[in-house]
Order: sequence, then structure tokens, then C-alpha cells
Amino acid sequence: MSKVKIAVFASGSGSNFAALAEACEAGRIPAEIVLMVTDKPNAFVNERASQAGIPIAAISPRDFDSKQSHEQAILEALQEAQVEWLVLAGYMRLIGADLLGAYPERIINIHPSLLPSFPGKDAIGQAVAAGVKVTGVTVHLVDEGMDTGPILAQQAVNVVNGDAEQTATAIHAVEHELYTATLQNLFKK
Ligand code: GRF
Repeated sequence: MSKVKIAVFASGSGSNFAALAEACEAGRIPAEIVLMVTDKPNAFVNERASQAGIPIAAISPRDFDSKQSHEQAILEALQEAQVEWLVLAGYMRLIGADLLGAYPERIINIHPSLLPSFPGKDAIGQAVAAGVKVTGVTVHLVDEGMDTGPILAQQAVNVVNGDAEQTATAIHAVEHELYTATLQNLFKK
């Protein structure tokens, strides 16, 4: 089976990046992470990528005068690495027209709620504040909206003791499994 070339985009700790890197390395996902793209050169995900030997494109929006020029720089790095799919894993920036146009229906995101509930930032905090007993994880294709786009997979997770931190731990564990399983299915076709 030929391997799909993917770039994982991340801005933070990178636990999903690490889970995907491990699953690709072990052959559970028929893909190769040829690039880790980040907008945060100091985020912990950079250490994880260098430890895994995965090339890093750390491209900070501060170095550009517009969203478009920032995305053009990312696009050059993606094309150079012959990336076929973009996999967002805690990338805290809305994807703009240039990247969407270059990768139509080839950008995937994971979000820590059962969309369309609780889109945007701090989805777990939003769920706890709303007092829901069940939230979850969604994997979806990215369109121009914020956490909109066709849903590929969802899994429910119970809110733990009305506490955001404990719920986040439960959600992260489910995210790592669900993202791996979804990409496995998507790329085996
Ligand atoms: C995850 O909860 C993901 O769903 C959200 O950002 C978080 C990233 O966590 N979009 P990590 O950096 O992968 O640990």
C-alpha cells in the first residue's frame, strides 16, 4: 500500500501529533508525516517533532504582513515536501483561502466537542460551563468556517466531575484513538 504524504499542523503540546507520528511509524496509518507545520516556534510540539526526526516548518505569522503572505510561505514548504493532505492537530489558527484552495477537501481537523456544539476556543471549558454531562470529540473536513465542515467521525465522552481538567484528560485519550482510526480508514482507500 502506498503511503500518503501528510503534514501535521500544531500550535501547542502536540500530544495528538505524537500519537499520529507513532501510528504512522508503526504502520497503523498508511501515511508518512513529511512535515510538522507550526505557527509557534517555541511550542512543545517542536521538541516532539525533532525527537521523532520529522522535519519542522516553524513559520510565525509575526514575520509576515498579512495572512495571505503567511499562508503562501506555508504553501511553499508544503509543495516542497510534496504534501498531499493537511492534518490539523491543535493548530490554533483559522485556515485561509490560499491553503483551502490548494488542498480542497484535503484538510482534516480534530475538535474536542461533539460539533456543532461548542465550536471555537476552549471547547471543554464551554461544555463544563454549560453543565452538559456528555461532550466528546469530532474529526471533520475543514472548510472556510470555524470548526464547521463535513463530519467524518465522532465519539462521546462523559464530563468528569464537572471538571475541565479531568474531562480534558479523558478527551485527549479518546482523541488519540479516534484520530488514528479515522485516518486509517481515510487513507486505506
Ligand atoms: C486537542 O484537544 C484538539 O482537539 C484541539 O487542540 C488540542 C490539542 O492538543 N484542537 P495537543 O496539542 O494535541 O495535545
